[in-house]
Amino acid sequence: MRILGIESSCDETAAAVVEDGRIIRSNSVASQIEEHRLYGGVVPEIASRRHCEAISGVVNNALDDAGTSLDEIDAIAVTYAPGLIGALLVGVNFAKGLALSTGKPLVPVHHLRAHIAANYLTFPELTPPFLCLVVSGGHTHLIDVRNYTDLRVLGQTRDDAAGEAFDKAARAMGMPYPGGVELDKVAEQGNDKAYKLPRPSVDGAPFDFSFSGLKTNVLNQLHNARQRGETVSIPNLAASYRRAVVDCLVRNTLLAAEETGAKKLVTAGGVSANSLLRRELKTVCRERGLSFYCPRLDLCGDNGAMVAAQGFYEYAAGNVAGPGLNARAELSV
Ligand code: KG4
Ligand code: ZN
Repeated sequence: MRILGIESSCDETAAAVVEDGRIIRSNSVASQIEEHRLYGGVVPEIASRRHCEAISGVVNNALDDAGTSLDEIDAIAVTYAPGLIGALLVGVNFAKGLALSTGKPLVPVHHLRAHIAANYLTFPELTPPFLCLVVSGGHTHLIDVRNYTDLRVLGQTRDDAAGEAFDKAARAMGMPYPGGVELDKVAEQGNDKAYKLPRPSVDGAPFDFSFSGLKTNVLNQLHNARQRGETVSIPNLAASYRRAVVDCLVRNTLLAAEETGAKKLVTAGGVSANSLLRRELKTVCRERGLSFYCPRLDLCGDNGAMVAAQGFYEYAAGNVAGPGLNARAELSV
């Protein structure tokens, strides 16, 4: 079965053709990052406009690259939640138009479920159940994935998402948006014990995260050092901060793995590209006899292939929408 997947929830306009939820036939992405970088973050109004301009070309590229026409597509999957509402609406309405004009089924896909599905594309043998740490720019969730379409949130961040915490600290360190990627590179050159930072946890909720205090601590250390005229080693501060964020992520993930008795540990979302997080999770999984999975690097960020992959399983479960489908800025997984 061939599914066309469409993604427009944030600053990437993306479309892809995937077969049977596992085989990528094409994956076309138009990124807006260069433009948002001028403003230090995503400007929602600009994002919507750029999606409008790009979407038709991106979908045509995905069909051309797959050597297929719309006639040979079995269903059209689209990210409908959560995300920037004006951005989501572009993808949703484009997909609705395609579905209406061709008579093909329209399949609504949750963005975080799609991130998780990037692992089905990377590991054809991976099947639920598993425990998944979803870490992106907007979300940090620990999810018990019981089946492809049966997911339960065990814990989540109470404030900043891990990606947001990386981006904000990176910006203060003088790195361009989205700073998480750059901070990861710079941290590779630093000493992660050079600066003392807390590892916050949430009282009574061991699977929940809190990153805002940690982020503020770094911002204060930078500010105070500058006020005193001291030089700050950015590689050392970046390394210490990355270590603190990753320690919190790994600590809660292991607690959740113990509690649920999970045998497989999966990570997903933009921050799952973080090199320290990947290394640490791999190591702790090896020590505990758990199987570890993380997406191919080019599938960690937003893309259409992950939407098409999850779309396959949503369609199989009967999750099909009519022309009344609306986008939602917020929606539980
Ligand atoms: O999943 P994603 O592409 O978009 C959302 O759904 O939010 O995630 C983007 C986030 C950004 O915050 C970006 O800085 C972060 O992922 N990110 C990283 C790395 N690569 C991307 N954060 C830390 N280390 C990385 N290597
Ligand atoms: Zn995303």
